[in-house]
Amino acid sequence: MTTQPLVNPAASLAPAPQSLPQVVLENLVKEYGTLRALGGVSFDIQPGEWIALMGPSGSGKTTLINILGGLDTATSGRVTVNGQDITRLGESDLVRYRAEKIGFVFQQFHLVPYLTALENVMLAQYFHSVTDESQAVEVLKRVGLADRLEHLPAKLSGGEQQRVAIARALINQPKLILADEPTGNLDQANEEIVINIFRELHQAGHTILMVTHDVDIARNASRRVELTHGHLTLDTTCNFLEQPKLCPHGKPFPSSGCCSTLDSKSCNS
Ligand SMILES: Nc1ncnc2c1ncn2[C@@H]1O[C@H](COP(=O)(O)OP(=O)(O)OP(=O)(O)O)[C@@H](O)[C@H]1O
Ligand SMILES: [Mg+2]
Repeated sequence: MTTQPLVNPAASLAPAPQSLPQVVLENLVKEYGTLRALGGVSFDIQPGEWIALMGPSGSGKTTLINILGGLDTATSGRVTVNGQDITRLGESDLVRYRAEKIGFVFQQFHLVPYLTALENVMLAQYFHSVTDESQAVEVLKRVGLADRLEHLPAKLSGGEQQRVAIARALINQPKLILADEPTGNLDQANEEIVINIFRELHQAGHTILMVTHDVDIARNASRRVELTHGHLTLDTTCNFLEQPKLCPHGKPFPSSGCCSTLDSKSCNS
């Protein structure tokens, strides 16, 4: 029996193998009181990768994406984005980091209900200038909404609302797009439209970290990373899909390690 690959093999050629990582997560821990949502997660993200972040409900996916996006803070560990350690940033620097570097797309869209599609996108513009409106129009055209600029969210379908949210995420030309179950509230047809936009963004060189429960959506990504109970338990860069608990050397996989950074010293040999 032939099985489809879990990630897109052509897409996996996209990132330059020798490039410096865009993101480095090192031993990331998040505790809510006595609950350990992340138990020491480490992995790198290369520029231009599309990573599908998977795992059971409660495994820490949203927690990880929120910390990486500067919406939440880690209990310990380090998150370096383009060489900057964001765990050391104060609130005003975090606001700037979020606006300049990150494009967020959420399952629930989070549009402002009394603003039009165009105004929702313009609201997110960080560098204000007289060209604001034309840039916002351009980005809405890019997601196929040229004829919906003046619509309020309530007058848009779920798929259209998510496309406005994607336009909003793109308006400041972020280096990193973080999407938390972006198709979770969409029907099949709109899911396809939204995933096609992400395909185009990936082909244009954007780096994408996308939480999804859907294996078919994950197949579009160039890499799949999986969390279980706050630990990294699978990373397809390692080519050990069939033996997710083993490192590339065939040794037990350390719960707080990352296979992409594993060497013979860090194996539990
Ligand atoms: N603000 C919070 N306070 C206390 N516990 C929290 C908080 N946010 C998340 N948690 C807990 O942390 C764990 C990880 O939650 P998280 O939302 O990251 O999971 P998830 O993998 O995104 O799950 P899902 O697939 O259901 O969205 C869960 O046990 C959750 O209950
Ligand atoms: Mg979640």
